[in-house]
Amino acid sequence: MHSSLSTLTVNSDPVNSEQSNSEIQPDLRKGKRFMKTYKVTLIDNSRGFQQTIDVPETEAILMEAAEAGIKIPFECVMGACAICQGKVISGTVDLSEQSFLSAREIDEGYVLTCVAKPTSDCTIEVQLDDYL
Ligand code: FES
Repeated sequence: MHSSLSTLTVNSDPVNSEQSNSEIQPDLRKGKRFMKTYKVTLIDNSRGFQQTIDVPETEAILMEAAEAGIKIPFECVMGACAICQGKVISGTVDLSEQSFLSAREIDEGYVLTCVAKPTSDCTIEVQLDDYL
């Protein structure tokens, strides 16, 4: 009479169930346990440069690039000057924190890497700083 109950399984460990998604990586740097991380490929055709870095969904691409030794020029670091501008070749980013680009520029793929956070794997053309 209770045989149907014996097949019921309850996941009592929601933390471990999140780990089964391969896109979710632990990131303890900012006290957050799990977040998605995307592959961001940065290219600068004028220098023949291309490198792919892992960028958590909550992090600005410029900062993660700098940690990887990729020198994208910057100034305000708050999406207001466009020194760090790039252009998305493929993929998507969150630009909700920027205040400089027009809607048309955003539609054309321009991004401000200091506030752009990846929402998919993406490729972005940038202009690296001279001191690379
Ligand atoms: S550094 Fe000013 S907009 Fe990115």
